[in-house]
Amino acid sequence: MKPTELLAAAAAARKHAHAPYSNYQVGAALLTEDEGVITGCNVENASYGLTICAERVAIGAAIAAGKRRFKAIAIVADGGPPPFPCGACRQVLAEFCRPDTPVYIAGSGYTGDYESTTLGALLPHAFRMD
Ligand code: THU
Repeated sequence: MKPTELLAAAAAARKHAHAPYSNYQVGAALLTEDEGVITGCNVENASYGLTICAERVAIGAAIAAGKRRFKAIAIVADGGPPPFPCGACRQVLAEFCRPDTPVYIAGSGYTGDYESTTLGALLPHAFRMD
């Protein structure tokens, strides 16, 4: 699957975001090892600290669906600086994705332009128990 197709899935998931407090909508899409796509969006709460980021919602949905190996992740959020995943999400992604896993990032109005990095570049020395 092309990065732009995975980004399109993230952009579609972003539309389902529950973000009435920040008004900042985020969508994430994981490409599974068998070329499936599992998405997530941010889910905010009136008790702000209970908010869950789009990336972690996607990981949770994937694990619940029995998928735990991923070839790539795409993240789409509102305009401005590219929506790099927060530190907590990087660590959660590192539980299931290798350091060389591509991370594609784009603004919500993206027209094919996106940034490409890797999880290892975003989180060197991720914490591991092994
Ligand atoms: N957010 C994400 O969904 N992913 C990130 O990596 C960083 C932030 C969400 C959480 C919250 O709903 C909103 O963006 C503003 O912080």
